[in-house]
Amino acid sequence: MHQKTLKHLALRKSGYTLDHELYCSSETFQDDLEEVFFKEWLFVTPACELPKKGDYVTYNIANYRMIIVRGNDDEVRAFHNSCRHRGSMICREAKGFAAKLVCPYHNWTYDFDGSLVWAVIWGMTLIQKIMDLSKFIARIYQVLFISVWPIKHRI
Ligand code: FES
Repeated sequence: MHQKTLKHLALRKSGYTLDHELYCSSETFQDDLEEVFFKEWLFVTPACELPKKGDYVTYNIANYRMIIVRGNDDEVRAFHNSCRHRGSMICREAKGFAAKLVCPYHNWTYDFDGSLVWAVIWGMTLIQKIMDLSKFIARIYQVLFISVWPIKHRI
């Protein structure tokens, strides 16, 4: 935790509101992300928002952009909404349906399990498993929860 946040918390008076600085400080905002939001399961969407294969929603947690998509095997998975080629955002809409996840920049194409199924580099068609989309951990129980923690800490 940042020293600035700790200092303001230490100076807190019981029965009074928190210091104004705690509401406006970028260090405190980062502390909130690290200590609360990145460690907890976060509600993303009700499962009924993704009824069919290929239905997706996009979601942002701080600087993490995500695609949550129902796959051909009916599993719901979450990926970084960032192409493995040059990092372009793959899905730009808040929700929708796709036959595949296709990057709008150079058309690298990913399946709903995140695997790269088509790409062209320097005129050659390329399929490499190492270029699959990066995953987030997702849990679904009628509603979908996402955790950033394993990504942040490489678990
Ligand atoms: S950035 Fe996605 S295909 Fe090039």
